[in-house]
Amino acid sequence: MVKICCIGAGYVGGPTMAVIALKCPSIEVAVVDISKSRIAAWNSDQLPIYEPGLDGVVKQCRGKNLFFSTDVEKHVYEADIVFVSVNTPTKTRGLGAGKAADLTYWESAARMIADVSKSDKIVVEKSTVPVKTAEAIEKILTHNAKGIKFQILSNPEFLAEGTAIQDLFNPDRVLIGGRETPEGQKAIQTLKNVYAHWVPEERILTTNLWSAELSKLAANAFLAQRISSVNAMSALCEATGANVTQVSYAVGTDTRIGPKFLNASVGFGGSCFQKDILNLVYICECNGLPEVAEYWKQVIKINDYQKSRFVNRVVSSMFNTVATKKIAILGFAFKKDTGDTRETPAIDVCKGLLGDKARLSIYDPQVTEDQIQRDLWMNKFDWDHPIHLQPTSPTTEKKVSVVWDAYEATKDADGVCILTEWDEFKTLDYQKVYDNMRKPAFVFDGRNIVNVEKLREIGFIVYSIGKPLDPWLKDMPAVA
Ligand code: NAD
Ligand code: UDX
Repeated sequence: MVKICCIGAGYVGGPTMAVIALKCPSIEVAVVDISKSRIAAWNSDQLPIYEPGLDGVVKQCRGKNLFFSTDVEKHVYEADIVFVSVNTPTKTRGLGAGKAADLTYWESAARMIADVSKSDKIVVEKSTVPVKTAEAIEKILTHNAKGIKFQILSNPEFLAEGTAIQDLFNPDRVLIGGRETPEGQKAIQTLKNVYAHWVPEERILTTNLWSAELSKLAANAFLAQRISSVNAMSALCEATGANVTQVSYAVGTDTRIGPKFLNASVGFGGSCFQKDILNLVYICECNGLPEVAEYWKQVIKINDYQKSRFVNRVVSSMFNTVATKKIAILGFAFKKDTGDTRETPAIDVCKGLLGDKARLSIYDPQVTEDQIQRDLWMNKFDWDHPIHLQPTSPTTEKKVSVVWDAYEATKDADGVCILTEWDEFKTLDYQKVYDNMRKPAFVFDGRNIVNVEKLREIGFIVYSIGKPLDPWLKDMPAVA
């Protein structure tokens, strides 16, 4: 029986390995992590991450050919293939701080693999890493190898949160990069055989190591660039009376452009886009390509602009001050169908409103109060460095309440900000919401999910990203 071990039981390691176990009953899969609480949760009925369809997959395999454990060394020792899916956050200190990837977790995993291995192994980069990381990992492994042979493969993951199981069952492609030597090609074939249990052969792409590593950063940069492009257009739509939804549709029907990923929003979030673009920018700078670095930096600048533009719109519409006003925040996760708040635009929007002394009442169906309070107090980039976690700020706590119902959040509020596109926000009884709010009552839709006309008929003053402005808002211009 082939044995797989995956180091890192997070958003990628957990679902990816659960699907491999489901699709390959002849393979034994162990997912290991240094976090005891995370592993305990994977072994319980309350999985550590919310992902539609994940519970069912885990229940079918757990205890049969899928195991979650903190005994990292034992499972690495026994494995034929070791996936490394640990976090690769943005560095917060030292050389490249604020841009470069922090490979501390990756390096410590590689050193541990070298220490405990007594047989040849294939080591697979599942984490998103800078180009040429495989070379560094190879050096760590071979210098400590004691005669054992390691083959390094790059197998970046393209799943998106909220649709992870669907994406893993039916991927657009699986990418495997390896050395162009006979041993490298053999290792590629071994990993290909795993995916071939359910992925059609023509969708399994093989490349050299550096192309695979770079393709992952490039794919995320291209995706984020589309969002920044449409968000830039949304600002121009508001200034000219065009409607961004109509513009996106018209643009996206060109088959060369395509309709996906053209939804204007309050800004993109999530653990990947910003981190991976910053990483790309840093690599370009290190390779003497400042113009290329500058080009990609602009994608992040527009994203930051979009978030601050939204805050300014809220404040300027409400007579240029939100001090002591109650603002309901509907949605805190970075997108629907996940409880993940990493780099969610809600953090910057809430901090912006708190900076103007607003009182916030926040509701998200999947995010806990603890998480929200921590996010609003944490320094930028600290979220992915568990050792830096700090206690909750008492000053934030007073101005922020977290509730478990949208009607409760909006009661007696002056304004409502929709920051995540949860389906339940589309079908709220907005008449009831309106009746219970202070007047004039404002809705700021950062996800373009409400029926603007209907809400205006009820009596709301409505701002919806990139849509023609309410006459009220035209009189109160927001300068970002
Ligand atoms: P995560 O933080 O959810 O999980 C990483 C896990 O690794 C944590 O549980 C941590 O405790 C564990 N870990 C760290 N060092 C360890 C060590 N030395 N030994 C054992 N366990 C260790 O992160 P994630 O979202 O799963 O992302 C993992 C990687 O995959 C990152 O490089 C990320 O960029 C990439 N990625 C993420 C996504 C996504 O949607 N989240 C998608 C594609 C790629
Ligand atoms: C992304 C990539 O899609 C995935 O391939 C990669 O493996 C990890 O990073 P993820 O961050 O989980 O996945 O979600 P994604 O669906 O890409 O959304 C990212 C952010 O962009 C979210 O905040 C989302 O709301 C926003 N978004 C997405 C838009 O604002 N408009 C869109 O049209 C699409």
